[in-house]
Amino acid sequence: MRARSEIVVPFNVPPLGDEEMEAACRSIKEGAIGGGGKYTRLVEERLRDMTGASYAHFVTSCTHAMELALMALGVGPGDEVILPSFTFPSNVTCVVRQKAQPVFADIDPVTWNLDPEDVARCLTPRTRVVMPVHYAGHPARLKEIAALIRPPCVLVEDAAHALGASYLGRPVGTIGEAGCFSFHITKNITCGEGGALLLRDRETARRAEFIREKGTNRAQFLRGEVRHYSWVSEGSSFMASDLLAVILVEQLKKAETILARRREIWHGYAKALTALAARGNLTLPVLEPSVQSSYHIFAILVSPDRRDNLREALLARGIETAPHYTPLHSSPFWVRAFGTHQRPLPVTERVGRSLLRLPIYPALTSSQQELVIEALHELLVS
Ligand SMILES: Cc1ncc(COP(=O)(O)O)c(C=O)c1O
Repeated sequence: MRARSEIVVPFNVPPLGDEEMEAACRSIKEGAIGGGGKYTRLVEERLRDMTGASYAHFVTSCTHAMELALMALGVGPGDEVILPSFTFPSNVTCVVRQKAQPVFADIDPVTWNLDPEDVARCLTPRTRVVMPVHYAGHPARLKEIAALIRPPCVLVEDAAHALGASYLGRPVGTIGEAGCFSFHITKNITCGEGGALLLRDRETARRAEFIREKGTNRAQFLRGEVRHYSWVSEGSSFMASDLLAVILVEQLKKAETILARRREIWHGYAKALTALAARGNLTLPVLEPSVQSSYHIFAILVSPDRRDNLREALLARGIETAPHYTPLHSSPFWVRAFGTHQRPLPVTERVGRSLLRLPIYPALTSSQQELVIEALHELLVS
């Protein structure tokens, strides 16, 4: 790998500034670094305002948001959860930790999100959750998927990439029974590590509040609703620090500006690479008319036998790019625990071998983007 100093276009630069630094210092000076304090409440209020969600719980990661969702919904042994194999290990980890059965459905070749037709093939009377991922910030086909299921089966949206995205005019994360977000360092809006769980149902939100706080009703105590708090349910420790929340408050203030710049870069790539796509050198991502994307990722598909060489050649020019998920059904843990996967997932396998993510972040300058575009033209046409 190249030394960091030779990189002229890094893959990611988090959009942090003086505001976040001053906010972190303020929170330390105030001694506000515990969990569930005023900055956590501010983050949750802001998330509810942005999305219209009834309930928002700030947590340590999207991984924990998904685990918390499944715990609060009572998913357990004997239940099946349908999810894509083209996703991050967190999706399947949270299912396995509940001792439920993961069932992988294929993705569609256009949006690289769960394919409703394949979801239909995977449904059984034991299906308790369908978990679409809004890959790259492009919402999954939720209307078609929702039309396939009946209670007690529910949708849990993995909106890790998708804060600010909407589907048929509705913010993602509020369409299913639960919506899970990530504020990891790589995400559009970040506090380093962090996540949020949005919920629509009061009882589920109450259960999630207990589980997040080690199985206690500390949140009710902090709101002055009970005089003491005690152990009221099973639980874990998913509460994030106010030190992270205070950074997130500043990030959320910048959400629109960040999104606008990402949109501009996304469309810049799409326009400049159209000719290469027309010649068949690459496949461009698509924006369906029913969606508003969060422009989290700009990824292209190239022939699988060229992808890794292309990445190396770009790196030799100082340009960092990244592939994405190794399909979960072919990952070491799946094979060890569950054996060879039986259902065909041809689109997942093709996209997993062909996809390359290009740099996209607010600090990317026009000349850096131009370097990426020029390099792709030179390398893919030769
Ligand atoms: C689709 C998806 N879901 C969930 C996660 C996990 O997010 P976190 O790091 O906040 O746990 C990731 C990580 O990037 C992801 O890509």
